[in-house]
Amino acid sequence: MFKSKISGIGKHVPENVITNFDLEKMMDTSNEWIIERTGIRERRFVTQPTGAADLALPACLNAIQNAEIQNTDIDLIIVATTTPEHSFPGTSSFLQALLGLPGVPTLDIRVQCSGFIYGLSIADQFIKTGQYRNILLVGVEVQSVGLNLTTEGRDTAVLFGDGAGAVIVSRSEDESQIYSTHLFGDGRFAKELWIDAPICDRSPRITQEMIAEGRIYPKMNGRQVFKHAITRFPEVIKLALDANSISMNDIALVIPHQANQRITEAVAQRLEISPEKVYSNIHRYGNTTGASIPLAMYDALSEKRFKKGDRIILAAFGSGFTWASALIKW
Ligand code: ACO
Repeated sequence: MFKSKISGIGKHVPENVITNFDLEKMMDTSNEWIIERTGIRERRFVTQPTGAADLALPACLNAIQNAEIQNTDIDLIIVATTTPEHSFPGTSSFLQALLGLPGVPTLDIRVQCSGFIYGLSIADQFIKTGQYRNILLVGVEVQSVGLNLTTEGRDTAVLFGDGAGAVIVSRSEDESQIYSTHLFGDGRFAKELWIDAPICDRSPRITQEMIAEGRIYPKMNGRQVFKHAITRFPEVIKLALDANSISMNDIALVIPHQANQRITEAVAQRLEISPEKVYSNIHRYGNTTGASIPLAMYDALSEKRFKKGDRIILAAFGSGFTWASALIKW
């Protein structure tokens, strides 16, 4: 068996900044309410039609460059997204074409907020078994165009933003490695955070009535999500520690999916660790779902919150419900 590691990381967010004050002009909300409930101050929205593959491309090229490999060294492309540009084929096919890599296998995974860690786990298996040496994994979301940016949709519209974070998962020839990944789900809660339409068990899959009823927009039972998130995040973080017989003292930084600052703070409290040990950049980008962990990892590394040789824990909870964690030596 081989060891796997993250050999390069890349980031791309739209230039267009949407502040809470901008949202105040679109719906009955306030900067104070949004900050108090979510910790979010601004987020990025695309300004012109942009497919997930288009948004992902610069992040992928950034990761390839940082990994000091060539496009042609990539053996597999995995895209974690909740906002693919078309029903099919998946975003990874469009991204592969943009990267100019005909013949390279591509894989879309739709695991929402936990998609990046699920993708990391899949890449880890292909590297460890020796089937591939370099895998491109990108978490990308173009959420802004699918939000109900009116008072009617304000409970979710203020949460989400656009962005992409990419990594190269490679065979490790040094101490850096992915120690373990831990994946879970519970479909009994599938409708607590979801988008109902299009509904693909009937014809037509989408009707004017569904649109008029707002069934094409995200719906969230916020309290239910909060209750489960603050249980599952600590649980799956502790599992990563126990599976590797280490303690939180051995960890340089916990990097959670950026769901909501209140959730992040509740997780730190339940783990009885200082807030400084749990990274947060939700104030800058909002909740970027599948992109949030790689974007947070990129920013934390840039801010020197961890360095080569440090152990970090990635953790996610979200729609599905799904939850996951990974322990990494950077
Ligand atoms: N601006 C102003 N008022 C608002 C807004 C808004 N954007 N959204 C909702 N409200 C109002 C509601 O209308 C309601 O008013 P009412 O009581 O007069 O009817 C009041 O605020 C409370 O509404 P709730 O939806 O119950 O708001 P809550 O206090 O629960 O906070 C929030 C909403 C922040 C989403 C909360 O439910 C929460 O923290 N949930 C955790 C889930 C979460 O944050 N998910 C993020 C995405 S999922 C993920 O990534 C895992």
